Amino acid sequence: MRFDLQTPLPGASFGGILSLPGAAGAAAFVAAAEADPGAMARMLADCHGVLLVRGMGAMAAAPDLLLRLSRVFGPEVENYRETGMAPNMIHPEVPEIFVVSNTPPVSRPPPKRPDPPLTADGQLPVQFPHRRGWHTDQSYRRPPPDVSLFLAVVPVPQGQGQTLFADGIAAYAALPPDLKARVEGLEGLHVSSTAKRGRDAVLAGEAPKPLTPQQAPQRQPVVRAHPVTGEKALYLCEYGQMDWVDGPFIGLEPGPDGEGGRLLHAIMSHLTQRQFVYVHEWTAGDLVIWDNRCTVHAATWFEADRLERVMWRTTVSGNPGAVYAGEGKSWLAA
Ligand SMILES: [Fe+2]
Repeated sequence: MRFDLQTPLPGASFGGILSLPGAAGAAAFVAAAEADPGAMARMLADCHGVLLVRGMGAMAAAPDLLLRLSRVFGPEVENYRETGMAPNMIHPEVPEIFVVSNTPPVSRPPPKRPDPPLTADGQLPVQFPHRRGWHTDQSYRRPPPDVSLFLAVVPVPQGQGQTLFADGIAAYAALPPDLKARVEGLEGLHVSSTAKRGRDAVLAGEAPKPLTPQQAPQRQPVVRAHPVTGEKALYLCEYGQMDWVDGPFIGLEPGPDGEGGRLLHAIMSHLTQRQFVYVHEWTAGDLVIWDNRCTVHAATWFEADRLERVMWRTTVSGNPGAVYAGEGKSWLAA
């Protein structure tokens, strides 16, 4: 084993910083990862699903390196040209890279700043609902993706534009017994935030958009057993990526004022407590690899009118677990 793994991440109780001592640069790192893909998957799992790799800036000029590293984490790397992503959000040469940026041609604004912007003790708000936007990537698909890789090409200065991660394994283990009993066997109903079926849209009385079969809300287990380790993790999103018309949970009273809504509030508040959260402040060339099967994450506000931010993401699938065995892809359904 040539990799060095420092755990946990600074200021957090999970995650790790992965490096390759004695070898500089992205090309050497990717070659070493390809030589032992099992080791990479194990380290990600051992760290409860978040690995930070620094010094990967050369990937910005050699995007194929990011694609090669993504393939180490699973057999399928999403080609966004084939999955209906708006063309302005796709890397022009590498269609497996989804570009997150506030500047043209992507022009995607950051999330709103929390109100108030800091907690009573002067810290960055992390806990839901003061912090909004907590989700796991593409949970509105069955089977959902396994792993995401996120590269800081042009980050904003530290203190804004962070990415927050919460440890769904530790949060599940720490659930009070009554909540643990309530989520056992429960399914959440997930939907894209663009479908106008989120809590805010329902409260505002907006008409839900007609959905194609490919956009239909999808059930997901609230407690997911990790397919690599068997460890149980909480798997759900906050307001925007759950269906509040028929959900957020199957079999519980639906809607913003229902039993399901109250339970979602309780679980998300629990999951995003500061002791389960890592705050990543980005430096150019940072690459964060996260496991969507056992973590949730949230983006934070930055001064988009003054600063440019360019990040690249890939999405890796292929090992969602036995619950999804034999299923086709919901988002490609005929
Ligand atoms: Fe995300």
